[in-house]
Amino acid sequence: MKNLKSYKGITPTLGKGVYIEESAVLYGEITLGDDVSIWPLVAARGDVNTISIGARSNIQDGSVLHVTRRSPSNPNGYPLIIGEDVTVGHKAMLHGCQLGNRILVGMGCVVMDGVVVEDDVIIGAGSVVPPNKRLEAGHLYVGNPAKLARPLKESELTFLKVSSDNYVKLKNEYLGEL
Ligand SMILES: CC(C)(COP(=O)(O)OP(=O)(O)OC[C@H]1O[C@@H](n2cnc3c(N)ncnc32)[C@H](O)[C@@H]1OP(=O)(O)O)[C@@H](O)C(=O)NCCC(=O)NCCS
Repeated sequence: MKNLKSYKGITPTLGKGVYIEESAVLYGEITLGDDVSIWPLVAARGDVNTISIGARSNIQDGSVLHVTRRSPSNPNGYPLIIGEDVTVGHKAMLHGCQLGNRILVGMGCVVMDGVVVEDDVIIGAGSVVPPNKRLEAGHLYVGNPAKLARPLKESELTFLKVSSDNYVKLKNEYLGEL
């Protein structure tokens, strides 16, 4: 694939059934789990640190993924770690943060270095999550800066997995067109 680029001799590695739309570009040390989908115009740079994306997660159109380098004061730097069944909405910016499993990052969100998002969280569209915040499992966060809005409803908790499953089906249709 032409859109998988090497940085210092390291090229992204892909699990089974991964879909990467041809206008997306991925550099360096990036690991994609099985059935991950990467949609048009996504830019992901695993250059000064690593990016990993867990099985069945989807990164929607125009999203930007990057990391922060290691330094004496921060020996691990800030890698970007995305869990399983995560839906990242259109034009999100994820930088050096750690997302658990079954999360919806709304369209246009900014999630900054050192943020930890626990499992089963929705971050409302357009929210900004400042550095080093921890978002608690099972809750909705909205706004700039993002604040806890309320616990998720049962229907929303169920939807988180439905959303990633829908994207697995969708990318399978796109793979069928290739
Ligand atoms: C967050 C979201 C799920 C909330 O849905 P909802 O059921 O309407 O939420 P609620 O009505 O309980 O809203 C709680 C409060 O947050 C506010 N709110 C909702 N979404 C917000 C957002 N994105 N940014 C700021 N405030 C928001 C509501 O106005 C409400 O405020 P109030 O209590 O002062 O009236 C929805 O607005 C959203 O952002 N979805 C993301 C969709 C998306 O980006 N999908 C990815 C692409 S497929």
